[in-house]
Amino acid sequence: MDKKLLTPGPLTTSESTKKAMLHDWGSRDIKFIDLNKKIRQTLIELINGQNVFECVPMQGSGTFSVEAMIGSLTNKKSKILILINGAYGQRMKKICSYMSRNFITYEVAEHEIHNIYKIENLINENKDLTHIFSVYCETTSGILNPIQPISELAKKNKISLFIDAMSAFGALPLDIKETYFDAVAASSNKCLEGVPGVGFILVRKNVLQNSKNNSHSLSLDLYDQWESMEKNAQWRFTPPTHVLAAFNQALIEHKKEGGTTGRYERYKKNCKIICDGMAKLGFKQLLSNELQAPIIITFLQPKVPNFDFKKFYNSLSDKGFLIYPGKLTVADTFRIGCIGSLYEKDMSEAILAVENTLSDLEIKLI
Ligand SMILES: Cc1ncc(COP(=O)(O)O)c(C=O)c1O
Repeated sequence: MDKKLLTPGPLTTSESTKKAMLHDWGSRDIKFIDLNKKIRQTLIELINGQNVFECVPMQGSGTFSVEAMIGSLTNKKSKILILINGAYGQRMKKICSYMSRNFITYEVAEHEIHNIYKIENLINENKDLTHIFSVYCETTSGILNPIQPISELAKKNKISLFIDAMSAFGALPLDIKETYFDAVAASSNKCLEGVPGVGFILVRKNVLQNSKNNSHSLSLDLYDQWESMEKNAQWRFTPPTHVLAAFNQALIEHKKEGGTTGRYERYKKNCKIICDGMAKLGFKQLLSNELQAPIIITFLQPKVPNFDFKKFYNSLSDKGFLIYPGKLTVADTFRIGCIGSLYEKDMSEAILAVENTLSDLEIKLI
């Protein structure tokens, strides 16, 4: 049996999603073309974006989609405010630097969220701002960033908001009727519970239509990808056919579970079992519950004699669970994800495995 992935992705997927890959698809065949159309339509429906947004799928991991979003939908005249509180905000900054985009940053510590008044001040001080980039759930720590007030500020000041919702899309609420934004990037292999290999960008039609010739890259050109897909319903370059077949199945299961609301409820329950269970065993969570998104939880590595992360990891792996190392720059931590095709029973078993690991390694926390 496969080990259970308590990670930020790739994640444990359902049997039926894996089985959807057991076919070979002709990329120019009508069956695949229909499947591709259905996926794009479903993703737009998830944000209530029918007739207002377009969906452009992009081969590769999530970063390819973020880079395609930035490179295609901004240009040399843009001035971007990047909100940073972790590695993925930093990555957007790096992407902007690679492309010589004009940007400023507002950076806070990895366990903090941005102050809305300070963002407003930055907007007032930089009248030429055209874009704000924000990460919805900063997976570095698992923090939930305040996307709603950021969006309200952007809308009020007529600034285009781009969201990296990689680890949030499909579980945390995102609806264009509630939250104003121009583009969001996400991928198949996180809360939508598909397999890795494809990402997508949902973008306001007029923003996409105005983006011709912006991109520095042919393969990451969203305009070109979209225009060509609209023309003949086909991908420009080899599509990840099996990944898309699995994605289609994963989206069917997402709908069956009650869509984004249903998935959020399950992940919330999963998260509570992990947080409560780990607290009971004596572990300290990095974030307070108000800042914690039900996606991935960061714990401080205990400073006790027998705790060694490698041994802790290996012991949990022997018991069938793969956790994730920490990514914080300021403290030694590790992370436990609560997303993927995993349920309350899996979470309770994971806590039992941690308890047994503590006993096997003779680690005393309480
Ligand atoms: C918020 C966020 N953005 C971007 C990425 C990058 O995705 P990938 O590693 O698939 O390129 C991740 C990956 O975990 C993420 O969590």
